Amino acid sequence: MPSQVTDNRNQNQTAKAFTLTSAAWFAGATSLGMIAAGYLIAPDFMANIEYIHFGRIRPMHINAVLFGFVTPGLLAAAFYYIPRLLRTELYSQKLGVLTAIFWNITVAAGLLGISLGYSQGREYAELPWIVDIMVVIAFALVLYNLLLTIQKRVEPILYVSIWYSVAAVVLTACTYCLGNVIWKPDTGALVGIPDAILLWFYGHNIFGLLLTPLALGVAYYVLPIATRSPLYSHTLSLIGFWSLIIVYTHIGTHHLLQVPVPTWLKTISIVDSVAMVIPVMIVLINLWYTVKGKLGDIHADIGAKFIFTGTIYYFFANIQGSMMALPHVQRITHFNNWVVGHAHVGVFGFAGITALGGLYFILPKLTGKPLYSRFLADLQYWLILIGITGFFVVLTIVGLIQGNAWYNGETLYRTLPEIQPYYILRASLGTLIMIGAYLGLYNVIRSLYFNRGTTT
Ligand code: HEM
Ligand code: HEM
Repeated sequence: MPSQVTDNRNQNQTAKAFTLTSAAWFAGATSLGMIAAGYLIAPDFMANIEYIHFGRIRPMHINAVLFGFVTPGLLAAAFYYIPRLLRTELYSQKLGVLTAIFWNITVAAGLLGISLGYSQGREYAELPWIVDIMVVIAFALVLYNLLLTIQKRVEPILYVSIWYSVAAVVLTACTYCLGNVIWKPDTGALVGIPDAILLWFYGHNIFGLLLTPLALGVAYYVLPIATRSPLYSHTLSLIGFWSLIIVYTHIGTHHLLQVPVPTWLKTISIVDSVAMVIPVMIVLINLWYTVKGKLGDIHADIGAKFIFTGTIYYFFANIQGSMMALPHVQRITHFNNWVVGHAHVGVFGFAGITALGGLYFILPKLTGKPLYSRFLADLQYWLILIGITGFFVVLTIVGLIQGNAWYNGETLYRTLPEIQPYYILRASLGTLIMIGAYLGLYNVIRSLYFNRGTTT
């Protein structure tokens, strides 16, 4: 079971800064998502505002969720738990806070760049070149702080959460440069098929080597503490880590099964996508056995409740993902809303909800006071749970309608009236999620700065 050292409240500024960053961008990103959803219902909606038309608002939404909400949320927890697991203090709180400020400037500059039309036009790699450099610097600053913290540790054993979080930062700093073809500032791209292969190597690594390990690190830290249970197996935890690193790095080409890339590459990506069941189930068996019989404790701790829910979505995202990598399944599911449903289940249902759980778990420890409002946190939980589950159902249905229509040679425009009601449903569910995000932001701000709760 992860050990905890005594909390020194002055030692928490970095985690606080990243917590606020994540909560604020969550609200911002869902607002952008709502505008995007509005365009899909009514394409003329706000049509004259070029800065936010669909082609720009979509990548703004995605970059805001990835780099504004989920990653900083998971890093907030990492900045909290890493020094405690190592029984030392963070190498530099000042550097940590500066990193958080620089991180926010980077995300804001990226969104502004896209909004002004400076997108590099490659999915998940849209940010303009200068912002790419800033992203790499931001990751390097995080890494520097973490590595020097590890260097001055008192605890010799590196608990698995540390493996996951440090690996995520190291690997992303590298694959971000590769995937964004950072050595070609003018285009940020190679030419032709090699570019697609490289892009999707990076693209799936953003989920598999950034969000997934960061989120698993948080789950491995929080669940044993919240349930006061020792980790089921440390050996399994390391087998799960290494198998993730080995298998996940080969699956990016499953985004290109309909593209003329070499068959051997497609075969590797399909085989390893199915093999993903190994690292996923190892982690889930380990975590679920750890909390077995302790669901009451999970229910009692709002952070653990979010995170446990995240593990269930992790299961679904991965089982669904392995199926989607099979060419026969992908004939129906590719290039339509089925994939968007999967994307929300993975990035939000698993990684985003885990990030929120991490924030709620550490908040009382950061401030030394109870959460400002457990009721608001619970309300947010249910709004989000209903929202994301609804998203999954609605987008999967739309995907099946679109996929089957295309498969049967139906003309695209004839499907539009049929899917319109589902788009309205999606926007309605999105409203619940967005309200949840703003409630969360309010709760986080009150908990951090205006909380008269009794000191714990
Ligand atoms: C066993 C693990 C997983 C496998 C095998 C898998 C497989 C896939 C496949 C095959 C696609 C492409 C579908 C298509 O274009 O037709 C896809 C898309 C996607 N996956 Fe997964 N997935 C897995 C887990 C996850 C997780 C955990 C996340 C999030 C943390 C995630 C996020 C996404 C996203 C965002 C996309 C959309 C990419 C796009 O914009 O086209 N996946 N996944
Ligand atoms: C108010 C809630 C939200 C709404 C209304 C919304 C709406 C949308 C829309 C309209 C798209 C574009 C889909 C398309 O091109 O057809 C999209 C894409 C995406 N959203 Fe959201 N979203 C919301 C929340 C979130 C959250 C919280 C996350 C992650 C934490 C997220 C992650 C993504 C991702 C990864 C994609 C890319 C999907 C793909 O390329 O397959 N969204 N969203």
